[in-house]
Amino acid sequence: MENKKGAQIILHAFYLLGLTSMLFASLAVADYEEVALEQLADVTNDEKNSMQTYIVWVEKPVSQKFSPQSNEDLGSWYQSFLPESIASSNQQMNQRMVHSYRNIATGFAAKLTPEEVREMETKEGFVSARPQRILPLQTTHTPDFLGLHQGSGLWEAATYGKGVIIGLLDTGIVPDHPSFNDEGMPPPPAKWKGKCEFNETLCNNKLIGARNFIGVGKGQPKRRFPFDIAGHGSHTSSTAAGRFVEGASVYGQANGTAAGMAPYAHLAMYKVCEGFGCADADIFAALDVAIDDGVDVLSLSLGGPSLPFYDDVIAIGAFAAIQKGIFFSCAGGNSGPWNRTLSNEAPWILTVGASTTDRILTSGLQIGDEKQYHFDGKSLSQPEDFDSTVLLPLVDAGSFGNQSSFCKAGSLKNVEGKIVLCETGGGVTNIAKGEEVKRAGGAAMILMNKEIDGFSTLAEAHVLPATHVSYAAGLQIKLYISSTSTPKGTILFNGTVIGDALAPKVASFSSRGPNIASPGILKPDVIGPGVSILAAWPYNVDNVTHPNPKALFNIISGTSMACPHLSGIAALLKSTHPDWSPAAIKSAIMTTADVLNLVGSPIVDESGLKPADVFAIGAGHVNPSKANDPGLIFDLKPEDYIPYLCGLNYNDTAIKIITQQAVKCSQVGAIPEAQLNYPSFAITIGPNQTRTQYYTRTVRNVGPATSTYNLELLVPHEMGMSVNPQVLTFTEVNQEITYHVEFNAHDGAGKDGVPFGQGYLRWFSDKHNVTTPIAVLFDS
Ligand SMILES: *[C@@H]1O[C@H](CO)[C@@H](O)[C@H](O)[C@H]1NC(C)=O
Ligand SMILES: *[C@@H]1O[C@H](CO)[C@@H](O)[C@H](O)[C@H]1NC(C)=O
Ligand SMILES: *[C@@H]1O[C@H](CO)[C@@H](O)[C@H](O)[C@H]1NC(C)=O
Ligand SMILES: *[C@@H]1O[C@H](CO)[C@@H](O)[C@H](O)[C@H]1NC(C)=O
Ligand SMILES: *[C@@H]1O[C@H](CO)[C@@H](O)[C@H](O)[C@H]1NC(C)=O
Ligand SMILES: *[C@@H]1O[C@H](CO)[C@@H](O)[C@H](O)[C@H]1NC(C)=O
Ligand SMILES: *[C@@H]1O[C@H](CO)[C@@H](O)[C@H](O)[C@H]1NC(C)=O
Ligand SMILES: *[C@@H]1O[C@H](CO)[C@@H](O)[C@H](O)[C@H]1NC(C)=O
Repeated sequence: MENKKGAQIILHAFYLLGLTSMLFASLAVADYEEVALEQLADVTNDEKNSMQTYIVWVEKPVSQKFSPQSNEDLGSWYQSFLPESIASSNQQMNQRMVHSYRNIATGFAAKLTPEEVREMETKEGFVSARPQRILPLQTTHTPDFLGLHQGSGLWEAATYGKGVIIGLLDTGIVPDHPSFNDEGMPPPPAKWKGKCEFNETLCNNKLIGARNFIGVGKGQPKRRFPFDIAGHGSHTSSTAAGRFVEGASVYGQANGTAAGMAPYAHLAMYKVCEGFGCADADIFAALDVAIDDGVDVLSLSLGGPSLPFYDDVIAIGAFAAIQKGIFFSCAGGNSGPWNRTLSNEAPWILTVGASTTDRILTSGLQIGDEKQYHFDGKSLSQPEDFDSTVLLPLVDAGSFGNQSSFCKAGSLKNVEGKIVLCETGGGVTNIAKGEEVKRAGGAAMILMNKEIDGFSTLAEAHVLPATHVSYAAGLQIKLYISSTSTPKGTILFNGTVIGDALAPKVASFSSRGPNIASPGILKPDVIGPGVSILAAWPYNVDNVTHPNPKALFNIISGTSMACPHLSGIAALLKSTHPDWSPAAIKSAIMTTADVLNLVGSPIVDESGLKPADVFAIGAGHVNPSKANDPGLIFDLKPEDYIPYLCGLNYNDTAIKIITQQAVKCSQVGAIPEAQLNYPSFAITIGPNQTRTQYYTRTVRNVGPATSTYNLELLVPHEMGMSVNPQVLTFTEVNQEITYHVEFNAHDGAGKDGVPFGQGYLRWFSDKHNVTTPIAVLFDS
């Protein structure tokens, strides 16, 4: 029961909260539940009293009067849907019209009252309207960890992403950060049509475009610039494509050369979010422009709860993007470890989960009169003046009763000079818990995980000496505190340690499948580094004097950090394989992903340190060098998604909203979701599904002309499988072979209480492994 309530609350938090500085890491472990609910109340009141911004879809103009080629005509077509009283006044119009979409859909965003919308519904050409939604936002060492090394391998082959343009929709960017300097960078490719809305001098050959989509429109009082105040957008941009910057560190930790995944790729920032969140009407306006500007990759570290694709502006915009060959990469969400919590579930999007790297910012805890018990923990702030040789008294904040275990503001007393144990959660951020301990005179803080988050701890910028420990460690520390009249301990700051052999691990906060909008497509697709990632930041977060005050960095966590890693890697693959479609690049990333960790055992889930399931890791952890040479690819053309959309039982109107073309499912035909030529399988065995299911897949040879692949199967629990043919023999490059897969559920499958099964189908040659994960849901 409690879990269920938690999941509900987290969805609210995810829906509303954006990121301001350190908020993100905390949001990742769902610390903000109560704050979110308060904000929800505020917004609802506000909206009751005034008009709202609506997204309105309309038909393309048909009459001779309007030519879709002309922006002006499109504008007057849109205006014709507004009430006469508005349309007849320029001033009214400027105040009401927010965005006119031109490239990827026919529609607009306008400020309207519900009555005005009802009036509009009767006009010819009207399709649908709904209020805009607010979506929340969801590195030095990671290139090395991912096997990218200067002067060799994929980085060299891909010339570090030279000539590729990555567009990000985010909180803006700090243009003069050294991560975005353009020394030695060529000018943007000739196709680039983007704009720089900073005063011109601030963009350069690295940052080739920067535009703001918040509070635009002629009626707006003042011009806004795409500067980043929150930090999130500078962080994600530099993770995707930051230049090499030496001596990057935060609190002296994680010191090294910072670099993004594609250090020579161009960047374009589309500012759609402020600290609070991102309006989907603005997101759609940015996508409408970015796709026309000429970006090659789009990276969105934001998203809300699952929606049907025809009602999800990110899914609609992404479909327009892939039609132009633009790779589309998104954060999967921070609402784990509960299942069915993903954002951005469409099969034409790459959905990215978050994992740890082998770098830990350690702060251990030693307790007992002889310091005989040691517990591992994490902290970003590593105070140098803390004397670890002196044992201090320990106290459990929970002993003060009344929910004081969460260390809410004002809840602590009599803790002077003590180390206080606080539990995560309760609507208080981890940082704020430290502030309360400090206020009450405490000397240091032990932060103990909730049971559900298990071993997933975060290194954060605490205001006092602190260590974040696992739930299991926390229980033992509590036991020790209650077992003696004079509990004692100290915190040992051991700095940055590289070499966690269990890395990568899935972070507890990383959202999990199954896919709600399309259960027949496995999501997330892959995981990538998203815990304690160092990247560019607009302001100083520590008290260390920096030799270069512009080279400021911060370390934060979230699927927001994992997504731009994959966007940068996709840019490298675009550079080495300019002819590959977005689906082909995604296939290469997925079929070569690692499912084993650094010691060669299955990747574990930090929430319980047990092997991670397929709904947490998808195909596995990205391996960029292997993705560059996948052997075989599963390709898809934009039109291949149409029978799939018919198979989702979307009606022709809904499909038209997604694809912007007239579709008749009665003529096109429908396919089951799992028949889409996707590099994974997600099938459901339930009362309404046949217990024997047949699918096909088609692979294209992008490896050596003559190659032979044999089959290896890991058949899921309670299932039978057969594949035909069992050997794939290629004699040419780009040759395609189709194979058939039959799944057979055993009698009684799903009746043993195990809710799902997993396995894989792998084609292997002497040079390549092409692995597709399989998930089977038993829905009885
Ligand atoms: C452009 O921005 C720079 C830096 O903020 C400023 O010094 C300069 O005056 C601005 N130029 C114009 C034309 O606004
Ligand atoms: C980071 O490393 C460089 C080179 O190893 C060193 O010169 C510098 O002092 C270090 N900075 C910090 C803050 O530790
Ligand atoms: C969903 O979560 C529940 C409870 O956390 C778990 O028992 C179940 O196995 C999960 N189902 C799937 C399909 O992952
Ligand atoms: C607990 O807190 C509530 C409200 O914050 C208060 O009414 C109540 O008296 C408190 N109880 C104790 C035992 O402190
Ligand atoms: C402290 O760090 C060093 C490497 O920097 C490592 O070898 C050692 O195991 C660490 N000790 C603890 C207690 O974490
Ligand atoms: C098509 O589906 C949408 C979304 O479910 C619905 O709102 C609309 O009424 C449907 N249209 C028709 C013609 O059935
Ligand atoms: C199976 O189909 C029936 C009738 O269409 C429906 O009422 C029921 O909810 C379905 N069950 C599941 C598990 O989808
Ligand atoms: C394929 O995977 C197997 C393990 O399943 C491994 O031993 C082998 O080296 C891999 N082959 C290639 C070419 O990576």
